[in-house]
Amino acid sequence: MALDILTNKSDLRDLRAAEVALPPLQEGEARLRIDRFALTANNITYSAIGERFLYWKFFPTADAGFGRSPVWGFADVEDSRAHDAPAGARLWGYFPLATHLVVTPVRGGETGFFDGAAHRAELPPIYNRYERVPAAPAHEEALTALFRPLFGTSFLIDDHLADSNFFGAEMAVFASASSKTALGAAWLARKRHRAEIVGLTSAQNRTFAERSGAYDRVFAYEEVESLPRKPALLVDMAGNARVLHGVHAHLGPALRHSITVGLTHWDSPPVAAPPPGVAPTMFFAPDIGAARARAWGADVFQDRLRAAQSEFLAACDWLVVDEARGVAPTVAAWRALLDGAVAPERGLIRAL
Ligand SMILES: NC(=O)c1ccc[n+]([C@@H]2O[C@H](COP(=O)([O-])OP(=O)(O)OC[C@H]3O[C@@H](n4cnc5c(N)ncnc54)[C@H](OP(=O)(O)O)[C@@H]3O)[C@@H](O)[C@H]2O)c1
Repeated sequence: MALDILTNKSDLRDLRAAEVALPPLQEGEARLRIDRFALTANNITYSAIGERFLYWKFFPTADAGFGRSPVWGFADVEDSRAHDAPAGARLWGYFPLATHLVVTPVRGGETGFFDGAAHRAELPPIYNRYERVPAAPAHEEALTALFRPLFGTSFLIDDHLADSNFFGAEMAVFASASSKTALGAAWLARKRHRAEIVGLTSAQNRTFAERSGAYDRVFAYEEVESLPRKPALLVDMAGNARVLHGVHAHLGPALRHSITVGLTHWDSPPVAAPPPGVAPTMFFAPDIGAARARAWGADVFQDRLRAAQSEFLAACDWLVVDEARGVAPTVAAWRALLDGAVAPERGLIRAL
């Protein structure tokens, strides 16, 4: 039997474990046993915006009211009738919150394959690729699962800022500064010594953000009006209307550019009206990454990304990996993320 955790699309707190039979494999299919995945605010975002951005479409369910929330992690090929997915191979990729996934490998080779399932054909290829990886120690896989899906975005944000000469800003403000994506981007941007790197975070995460080494200065959300009024840009990971409007209103014409990246504060009231001043632009990493890979060449892009990630991970001495297996710890981790009750230094790794 396989196990699925189904998420109520209109109430993300409502998770249901369901046992499902494992059907016999068809020619060309492989069955993957999902073994280790990360849970961060990014996964909540996938589900919170799943309808609009198609995230529910990757792993469809029989009941349209419930979805299989996507996660990034590792799996073993448990059984296979597909040439490019030999039994026993270890894979990195995009999985449902479940024990198993059946894929139809296409465009395969030594390094991996794409899932050619018909319902995934129109979805961004970056999510459809399964990469063969060598066996690695649990801690190393945990770091990969936690940061690899996020650090690409951090890297692209920093590259975008540098490429645009920081939009003429003397100060770059990162909202939801304690999130892993913001920490990576701020850490990279700070190394450039081109602008003051400022973190904006909740009062309880302020000390952590200060100690992380990613920021020159950190302010709590309540202190927005203490931000210096100098040419600035905003990288918004929080998606919180109050924070967004507060920064725009306080900085006024000094705010040169505003980028919306995330939605960590997924349950804050939606942004009703555009904030004053410069209009925020959306940052969708898969599109921006594809353009960068075309400009630099895919190999150069991957080499630069990997080098930056290794350097950042070596500096993440604050991270505490919290790994557990089973339905109960997985559901508990999901609900803690929903409640904003996971300390930013904890990296949650789960498996069913
Ligand atoms: N646009 C893209 O292409 C793209 C790509 C990757 C990631 N992202 C987005 O980047 C964001 C960061 O993701 P992550 O995985 O890096 O986050 P994370 O490390 O899990 O960040 C956790 C932080 O989010 C805030 N937070 C979490 N839950 C909250 C809640 N319920 N209420 C209030 N605050 C809460 C807190 O930060 P503070 O206290 O500092 O606010 C917390 O420390 C996500 O929205 C993700 O979707 C976007």
